[in-house]
Amino acid sequence: MSLFPVLNRTPAFLSLVLSAAAIVPFGAASAQDFDPAPIVEIMRANAGPGTHRPSGAKGQCYAAEFVPSAAARDLSKAVIFTRNTPALVRFSVGGGNPNVADGSRGGNRGLSIRIDGDGPGQTEFVMVNAPVNFAKTPAQMLAFLESRRPGANGQPDQDKIRAFNEANPETLAQGRYLASQPIPGSWVGVNYWALHAYTLTNATGARQVVRFRWEPLDGRVDLTDDEARAKPRDFLAAEIAGRLAANRPTGLRMMAIIGRPGDPTNDVTRRWDDEDTRRAVELGVLHVRAATDAARCDSQIFAPTILADGIDGPAEDPMFAVRTPAYAISITKRQN
Ligand code: HEM
Repeated sequence: MSLFPVLNRTPAFLSLVLSAAAIVPFGAASAQDFDPAPIVEIMRANAGPGTHRPSGAKGQCYAAEFVPSAAARDLSKAVIFTRNTPALVRFSVGGGNPNVADGSRGGNRGLSIRIDGDGPGQTEFVMVNAPVNFAKTPAQMLAFLESRRPGANGQPDQDKIRAFNEANPETLAQGRYLASQPIPGSWVGVNYWALHAYTLTNATGARQVVRFRWEPLDGRVDLTDDEARAKPRDFLAAEIAGRLAANRPTGLRMMAIIGRPGDPTNDVTRRWDDEDTRRAVELGVLHVRAATDAARCDSQIFAPTILADGIDGPAEDPMFAVRTPAYAISITKRQN
């Protein structure tokens, strides 16, 4: 029996996941450096019994379409930048609770995308609405999660958390960023970041390091804490349904933030200097078209290392290498 029986994937995909070396064949930061299984295990322990996904457990799946800009071809030869392409999207609310209120302040909002899932441009991103991650290496992520593991009384030990935070101040940046922001009033009303540094290669072979930020097509939708509290528990899917019914723009612009020599490319806890104001090129628009069966998103993983020719992930970022194997383990452990 296949190790990943529920993954409806090509043999090429399976060999990518199963052969960690093939995921990052050219860099030092291969997934072989770190076994993601203990991370998945503690994510599931912290999320509680009966966990489905231990992160982004609550979500909604949509059929979508990616429409590239003309400028995208200057930066990348990827086939998704040459024609309109079907996509699958899953928006989520952070954490392992599938019944969490959409207006909750804790946790992030997530965006997973698969563009051209059946074609040569297959490209996948799994993103959050923060420009930094809470850990820069898998070891640090494991220690972060361990420090928050519930004890015999069902609660984590606050002294342990304090000690970890003091020794690892960069792990607090994501939480601080989210705490500084309004609560998203729409899944398409907030920015998402793919976090890692990617390299785009165009048809002449010119290479450009970028970070991807996906921005609301129709403006931000922000809620105060009081407004969020007054919303129904599941208002995010209803908000998208309302947009689609009224034919309002429902999508996100894919922006490439242009890198410069010296920008860090191996640390997802760090932003680039003046990242918010530096040049960014619009690569296209993701139009959300219709809600679709949850099974379309739940029967497969979104795999951040699957990228079309013309888009490369960072060989030297250990968090990038470990993600697809972690998701491949997680799908085999999901319950209910
Ligand atoms: C570094 C940036 C990361 C971001 C932005 C991110 C974001 C996300 C998002 C949005 C989801 C929900 C996926 C969905 O919609 O299906 C998710 C799921 C998950 N993440 Fe990550 N993640 C990151 C890194 C990691 C790493 C390093 C690990 C473990 C080594 C990890 C483990 C998981 C697991 C186990 C799930 C549940 C997957 C499933 O059952 O399908 N994540 N993540």
